[in-house]
Amino acid sequence: MQPRLIQVDRADPSASRDELLRGLQADPAAIPPKYFYDALGARLFAAITELPEYYPTRTEAAIFARHAEAMARLLPAFAALVDLGAGNCEKAARLFAAFGVRRYVAVDISVDYLRESLDVLRHQHPRLDLLGVGLDFSSRLDLPAAVGEGPRLLFYPGSSIGNFAPADALAFLRQARAAAQGGALLIGVDLVKPVDVLEAAYDDPLGVTAAFNRNLLRHVRRVASADFSLTDWRHVAFFNDAESRIEMHLEAVRDVAVRWPGGARRFAAGARIHTENSYKWRLADFAALLDSAGFGDLHHWTDDNDWFAVFLARA
Ligand code: TRP
Repeated sequence: MQPRLIQVDRADPSASRDELLRGLQADPAAIPPKYFYDALGARLFAAITELPEYYPTRTEAAIFARHAEAMARLLPAFAALVDLGAGNCEKAARLFAAFGVRRYVAVDISVDYLRESLDVLRHQHPRLDLLGVGLDFSSRLDLPAAVGEGPRLLFYPGSSIGNFAPADALAFLRQARAAAQGGALLIGVDLVKPVDVLEAAYDDPLGVTAAFNRNLLRHVRRVASADFSLTDWRHVAFFNDAESRIEMHLEAVRDVAVRWPGGARRFAAGARIHTENSYKWRLADFAALLDSAGFGDLHHWTDDNDWFAVFLARA
C-alpha cells in the first residue's frame, strides 16, 4: 500500500533560534539534544551504533532476536504498531512477522526522515498499512487521529527514555499509557553497569562520538547564526554516579567569545555547554517507574550481562 504521510507540527526556524539562544545564555549553558540530528548528525549517530564500544544498539537487537517469539505470545491484541522515533524503521521491521503487524505507524520529528524508509518498507511488505507521522513528541505525545482507533502497541527502543530526566520520563510514560488506548508499551532501557564500559560507549577512541557531539555546533551555527569555531571545543563524557547518568558536554579548550546577531557570550577555558544526559536505570527502579505511570502486567528480557533490558507493559 502507498504510505500516507502527515506532518503534525511544522519546524519553525525562528522558534528554533530562540530556543537555542536561550540555552546558550542559560547557566549552565545547554543545547537541546534534538539539534544533534541534522542530516550529518543522523549519519554520525548511525556510525556510533556500529562502534564496538557502543553496546546498546547491538545488545538490544540481540534481545529482540532471541525473545521476539516469547514477546509475541504475551502481546495483547493491537490495531497498530506505533514506532516512536522510527528513523530508518529497521528495528520495528524486524518484528513485523513475529508480531503479526498489519498497520505500522512511524513517528519521527520530521516526516522527511520517514519518506524514504517507508518507501523501502512498502516494497518489502506490500500488504502492510503504512503511515508516517512528523511529530516532536518529546514535549507532548499527542498522536493524530489518522493513527486510527483501537489498542496500540507503542514501540520505544534504543533507551531513548534514558535521555529524559526521571521526572520527565514519568510524565512521558503517563502520556504513552494514554496514547496506547488499552494496548501495551514495548520499551528498551539501558542499565547501570561498570563505569569503564559506560564511559567508553560515550567516548570512543576513534572519535566518532566526539564528532557527533561537536557537529551540534555546526547545526547551531546554521540555525542561530552563532559564530562557533569547532576547534575551540572538545567532547567530554563521564558517568555521574549520584544522578546515574552519562553526561555529555562540550568544553572550551581556550577562552572563547561566541557572537550571534544581537548578542554574545564569553566562555572561559574549561567552561562547558551541557548537550545531553543518558540515564542508566536499575531493573527494579524502571519497573517501579512503569508502575507509577499506570502500566501493569510487566515482563522484561535482558542480555546475559544484564546490560540492557526490554520491558513489555500493559497500558
Ligand atoms: N540517545 C543516545 C544515547 O543516549 C545518544 C548518544 C549516543 C549521544 N552517544 C552520544 C549523545 C554522544 C551525545 C553524545 O545513547
